[in-house]
Amino acid sequence: MNDPTLHAPEETWWKDAIFYQIYPRSFADSNGDGVGDLGGIREKLGYLELLGVDALWLSPVMRSPMADHGYDVSDPRDIDPLFGDLAVMDALIEEAHVRDIKVTMDLVPNHTSDQHPWFIAALESTPGSPERARYIFRDGKGDGSEPPNNWPSIFGGSAWTRVTDSDGRPEQWYLHIFAPEQPDLNWTNPEVAEDLAKTLRFWLDRGVDGFRIDVAHGMAKPAELHDMNLELNTLMKNDDDDPRFNNEGVHEIHRGIRKVMDEYPNRVTIGEIWVQDNERFGDYLRPDELHLGFNFRLAEADFDAATIRDAVTNSLAAVARVDGTPTWTLSNHDIEREVTRYGGGIRGTGRARAMLLLELALPGTVFVYNGSELGLPNAVLPEDVLQDPVWERSGHAERGRDGCRVPLPWESPAPPFGFSTSSDTWLPIPPDWAPLTVEEQLEDVDSMLNFYRTAFELRELRPEFSGSGVDWYGSPPGCLAFRRQGGLICALNATDAAIPLPPGELLMSSAPLVDGQLPADAAAWLV
Ligand code: GLC
Repeated sequence: MNDPTLHAPEETWWKDAIFYQIYPRSFADSNGDGVGDLGGIREKLGYLELLGVDALWLSPVMRSPMADHGYDVSDPRDIDPLFGDLAVMDALIEEAHVRDIKVTMDLVPNHTSDQHPWFIAALESTPGSPERARYIFRDGKGDGSEPPNNWPSIFGGSAWTRVTDSDGRPEQWYLHIFAPEQPDLNWTNPEVAEDLAKTLRFWLDRGVDGFRIDVAHGMAKPAELHDMNLELNTLMKNDDDDPRFNNEGVHEIHRGIRKVMDEYPNRVTIGEIWVQDNERFGDYLRPDELHLGFNFRLAEADFDAATIRDAVTNSLAAVARVDGTPTWTLSNHDIEREVTRYGGGIRGTGRARAMLLLELALPGTVFVYNGSELGLPNAVLPEDVLQDPVWERSGHAERGRDGCRVPLPWESPAPPFGFSTSSDTWLPIPPDWAPLTVEEQLEDVDSMLNFYRTAFELRELRPEFSGSGVDWYGSPPGCLAFRRQGGLICALNATDAAIPLPPGELLMSSAPLVDGQLPADAAAWLV
């Protein structure tokens, strides 16, 4: 067994954990409806244990009309029938715990679904009513026919939708930073915080180990909803000075969440915080706010040594001021898969392997998106199957995120590759993924899957993976190398030619050495 003193104590197990993000629609389908579900995850717990992950993050499984595939929640304290029910969720938590795997859930506090009973009541009520006060309703500009301000939705189009009164006459507008089916909550209303506390306790009492908090830099809106500088708006991204996000009031909301979390031992919150400025990023991780925050710098970095080094240095600096834990991620359900980002094909796959070694060599918490361990590329999908609301709302200018959300290939030589018994899967699986199935890859010692397993195992067992910082080594141009205090050395070659390795004993490399040298697009661990 591994030496427990090498790892974070149980109270702060998340400080060096490997989280595995499951996009439940696409992981495994147990009931043959073509959509993944909780039963499917239960059936694959053995696989997750074999892979060697410490914790799961489930993208939303609460009740939802699925306008944004679960990120539009109509009942935050129930499981959507598409995914199962509370009994299956309870069983999943229990069985995961038996295998020593924690379970964290996505929480969506910035908005609800437009089918949430609160929003239905708000529409049936009049301006100024307590029902409307749970959301952000405003009168329109001028004669009321213009939206209250110029804010765009992150998914395209206006962030405001006009409602009609009981006689069908146009009336107030409501704010939705995302799709119109995702009305923003009014966090200055204490009822909203009280309801979230109820939701937190509901799941924590069932044994959930924590939450990934969606749009954790949202929630608070400026009191005056002034127009914004539209140059700050880019589809699916936001600038630090964008008034729709990062308002000071958000920190009080996190303090409230943390108070509830602290009633329960050993739990964790991970915020989705799109913040560039290191000081502002660190603010979210003060001791009475979030435990962890996603840092997306590595996922945004090209495969270029200077850019990668800069991303690492910045991510470490962002948490250092508040003594926080760094986090690393190469992809998730919102971004293009890394194999494709790094150039696709053999090259993209090789670079993705190299980046995994880099990420696992760093101090802190690692988040792996389901399918990365199979080396899946982004799928190129025909337009008529696209489902992401971004596709429609951008007027078909942006294809959206479906390409990284295609179901996982498990076994057999043809779609649906054991993902489902139905061939009509919610997104089609490319037939050329046959060599990428779990079944195929388990057989092949050099596969991406076995590479992940070995790397996870070494990170778990070897004492050299310790120490809270990194010391950079001098390295040839286009390369980087650093050392952990425990003695691990990680070298990465982003040039086109092989380079000599730093001195040390080779623990693992992402590609076979060539005459003792580290080839192009590869990384190595030495001790
Ligand atoms: C977050 C989620 C994304 C979702 C959005 C709205 O950015 O990661 O998938 O569409 O919030 O909830």
